[in-house]
Amino acid sequence: MGTLKQTSSPVSLTTNKHLLKWVEKTADMTKPAAIHWVDGSQEEYDWLCSQMVESGTLVKLNQKLWPGCYYARSHANDVARVEDRTFICSLAKDNAGPTNNWENPFVMRKKLRALFDGSMRGRTMYVLPFCMGPLDSPVAQIGVQLTDSPYVVANMRIMARIGLPVFREIDKDEKRVVACLHSVGAPLEPGQQDVPWPCNPEKYIVHFPETREIWSYGSGYGGNALLGKKCLGLRIASNIAHDEGWMAEHMTIVGVEDPKGEKTYVAAAFPSSCGKTNFAMMIPPKGFEGWKIWTVGDDIAWIRPDEHGHLRAINPETGFFGVAPGTSVKTNPNAMAALSKNTIFTNVALTPEGGVWWEGMTDAPPDECLDWQGKRWTPQIAKETGAKAAHPNARFTAPAAQCPTIDAAWQDPEGVPISAIIFGGRRAATIPLIYQAFNWSAGVYMGATMASETTAAATGQLNKVRRDPMAMLPFCGYHMGDYFRHWIKMQRSLTATPRIFHVNWFRRDAEGKFLWPGYGENLRVLKWIVDRVRGRALGQETRIGWTPHYKDIEWKGLGFPEEKFKELQAVDKAAWRAEVMAHEELFIELHSHLPPEMIYERELLICRL
Ligand code: GTP
Ligand code: SPV
Ligand code: MN
Repeated sequence: MGTLKQTSSPVSLTTNKHLLKWVEKTADMTKPAAIHWVDGSQEEYDWLCSQMVESGTLVKLNQKLWPGCYYARSHANDVARVEDRTFICSLAKDNAGPTNNWENPFVMRKKLRALFDGSMRGRTMYVLPFCMGPLDSPVAQIGVQLTDSPYVVANMRIMARIGLPVFREIDKDEKRVVACLHSVGAPLEPGQQDVPWPCNPEKYIVHFPETREIWSYGSGYGGNALLGKKCLGLRIASNIAHDEGWMAEHMTIVGVEDPKGEKTYVAAAFPSSCGKTNFAMMIPPKGFEGWKIWTVGDDIAWIRPDEHGHLRAINPETGFFGVAPGTSVKTNPNAMAALSKNTIFTNVALTPEGGVWWEGMTDAPPDECLDWQGKRWTPQIAKETGAKAAHPNARFTAPAAQCPTIDAAWQDPEGVPISAIIFGGRRAATIPLIYQAFNWSAGVYMGATMASETTAAATGQLNKVRRDPMAMLPFCGYHMGDYFRHWIKMQRSLTATPRIFHVNWFRRDAEGKFLWPGYGENLRVLKWIVDRVRGRALGQETRIGWTPHYKDIEWKGLGFPEEKFKELQAVDKAAWRAEVMAHEELFIELHSHLPPEMIYERELLICRL
């Protein structure tokens, strides 16, 4: 590694007085051994990775099989987002609302300053400038993350635009940036040996919406630590969007092109680990020859009305932080191509030939491997103990540009026009495969009351049905009732409203098996959505919305009996009454901020049921 040079440390790469002052003040508090200004170059990335290989944080994978790829194992207490340790510290408790954890910002700052005092001792503090959205986009937001984790810097280089061009932008007109402070909370005493994954059992993921600040302590994993993603990209951005009249949403953005070349963009909000990445990269099924799916984004959409009153969406990210388990050449070949090189894998299994593996990647598991904790794993051990080779929330960090279906307009600073919004949850029962809201306010109600079974993306109980409005429960940075009102009000700035739909790929039969094959077959449902948007498909009016007749769905290439479709679409009155009671529970919680439209929509639904 003798040829690799550390490029920019410790020379300051900005002239922005506020930034220089903040870096100095933070260094006084956190007391790092060195400061590194991140230029974002390939040389710097290679150097950082080689340092992490040396320290044991990364394993360089077999470069013949996995060119440019690295492997990391996290600490067992740092494997997912920690929703119970995530705070919205608005000045007024009422602005955070009952669905967020709140603490008085002055009290919280005091607590955090004590935690950050000396927290970077013995480590390097990286000054990491990043831009969410194309640098030249009117929608883009700039952040600077001060972090003591080189793993975070390397991941952020894949997930966002970072380095010198962002410093140039910050210097231009002393631009305001979102201040993001991050420490893994594991200072090193002189002579103390470092561990591969430093972190702290005590974690705080804290947002100050008024001052647009983020303080994250104790975790190095995913959304807890890559602060451009959920912290800035959704929790802070939802506040900015609320103030400025646009929307920051937990949505994938997809272009559907039919054989005639007509392209329709849709945005889909599914909760964490409920199918956004797979939906964004779908392979058209048998019978859909000539159709193409184009990927704009897989996790976050920033959506705003253009001067004609049409909604346009950008993907503020440049990479995919995707769920590895279940991803395979069969289920998602585009994701497999995207992650085939220049990717960082975290908490998957390591094979003897220096490759990676996870449950569902291949039909046959490897004879043996090291699991995500570094322990020997064999199919026999798995059978006896149920041990997983990869953690269920194991992830790949892969450059979006490497995805074969990446859309030509994915970096368009103006974004792509959105014709439909799709909500969807993971529901074993009650919720049909597909239905369409009668209009915008019914659609907002549909999103506001959606629910899903919890997944491994966050720590806590699994497979528990909970309300997850617009898939934003863990990500809305202000009062959820005000967020619904913002959705309702958005319609006023639009000349054409996108149609709103609800899907459920996860309904099960009496034996617990999925009724719907999912993945690429979802295009059959998506085609009906496009046909509805374009005024080509009839639907039938039901109690809950518009639904397709069996004959309205293109079944070519898939033998799918009408009986089974009816089972998928069934609306059970008793189950829906219970569902509406659960809506009421959420609404009671939010009542003081709930827009009246939500009450009226609920009344209408009750009358129809
Ligand atoms: P986050 O990155 O956490 O926001 O997740 P995501 O919404 O992007 O979910 P992703 O596409 O990674 O899918 C999560 C899990 O759901 C994976 O194990 C997939 O294999 C599975 N999955 C995705 N789409 C389908 C589908 O259509 N049917 C079924 N049965 N499973 C699916
Ligand atoms: C999610 O949980 O929705 C994710 C993964 O996309 S994380 O970046 O950890 O939030
Ligand atoms: Mn997500």
